[in-house]
Amino acid sequence: MQNFDYQTPTRLIFGKGVIAKLPEVMAQFGKKILLTYGGGSIKKIGIYQKVKELLTDCEIIELSGIQPNPKYDPSVLDGVKLCKENNVDVILAVGGGSVLDCSKAIAAGACYDGDPWDLISYKVKAQKALPIVDIITLAATGSEYDCGGVISRTETNDKIGYVDPLLFPAVSFLDPEYTFTVSKKQTAAGIADAMNHTIEQYFVEDTTLLNDGFCESMLRSLMQNGRLCLDNPNDYTARAEMMLACTYGCNGILSLGNSMSGWPCHGIEHALSAYYDITHGEGLAIITPRWMRHILNEKTMPRFVKYGINVMGVSPNLPLEVIANRAIDATYDFFKSIGIPMHLREVGIDESRIDEMAHHIAVNEGLENAYAPLNEDDIRQILIDSL
Ligand code: NZQ
Ligand code: ZN
Repeated sequence: MQNFDYQTPTRLIFGKGVIAKLPEVMAQFGKKILLTYGGGSIKKIGIYQKVKELLTDCEIIELSGIQPNPKYDPSVLDGVKLCKENNVDVILAVGGGSVLDCSKAIAAGACYDGDPWDLISYKVKAQKALPIVDIITLAATGSEYDCGGVISRTETNDKIGYVDPLLFPAVSFLDPEYTFTVSKKQTAAGIADAMNHTIEQYFVEDTTLLNDGFCESMLRSLMQNGRLCLDNPNDYTARAEMMLACTYGCNGILSLGNSMSGWPCHGIEHALSAYYDITHGEGLAIITPRWMRHILNEKTMPRFVKYGINVMGVSPNLPLEVIANRAIDATYDFFKSIGIPMHLREVGIDESRIDEMAHHIAVNEGLENAYAPLNEDDIRQILIDSL
């Protein structure tokens, strides 16, 4: 087992109606709040109105219109400006992972005198960030329990995972009822995203029985409860299980003591959504089985066999190679069965920029150090296989 140094400072407040605690929570941080949200779903659901009602004694400044795959310009820059101009005490992010990720970059940028891109691009280390409280409305990214935010810069086709312990939300509110209105497309993308977070941490060199069991249980729960959410969007228990599983995805708890993964599918997908602005979970679902097939060899086979038997229910009595290949087929079939388009062409990506993307990924994502190392040719092949 590898050494580790681990701390998650985020307070999770989970369950039906927990928003009632919002005034007491916000009071710890101050009265000037930057309320961040996306394209309006929170108004349709009624959370926006509820937040306003609960925080009547606070001064609320708003940043709306944060898009999926949140953009540095204008959203991060506008948010930083609003915080500085208004001396904001705390950010309240209400929405999906994109709203929260954008808010994390704003929180750091607001406490920095230079260009916030210096921080996101790791040129300068942040010394301070505003506290963040969030009400997460979409189960997928796990941003509510981790210290990363993924920010896109359109003009350079960059989509960077900006990670810093300062960016852990102070408090995350998770009410599964708020996810009842998430569309089938976004629900399926959320299942695929959280499954891939788990897979990225499962396919590593050095693991423990404990972590393997945790990951296998996560994957089974996501598949089973994810399907139930799609069949009946108002199934509280299924939405709750899915929400909690997603929350564990990216904060490292699934891989304490494991060797590093390199997160290859994320490295590849981030370029797809940077170049084509596609839905993150869909990109991952398309890439994952192709990546699996590409890295399957004698060395990686035992992991695929374990995954096949314990997660995908493949018979242990078959030859190892058959188990591994069936596990990969089952992964593809599951994503297809929940309605995800499983070819890049179906999400508007053709071969025209594959060489450029493969180069961009090889240069920026460091996948030569992944569990199964990927060079530019490997990445190009995975992209071609995904067309
Ligand atoms: O903008 P609004 O109107 O709010 O609509 C959103 C958006 O259109 C909608 N939505 C959210 N909650 C809803 C809802 N619609 C109805 N009912 C609700 N309750 O869903 C759409 C997608 O929202 P978005 O926030 O983009 O989705 P998600 O949570 O999947 O976030 C995706 C982003 O997170 C990044 C991805 O790369 C992508 O940019 N990631 C962040 C990670 C992290 N911080 O740890 C890790 C992930 O691997 C991922 O990379
Ligand atoms: Zn992800």
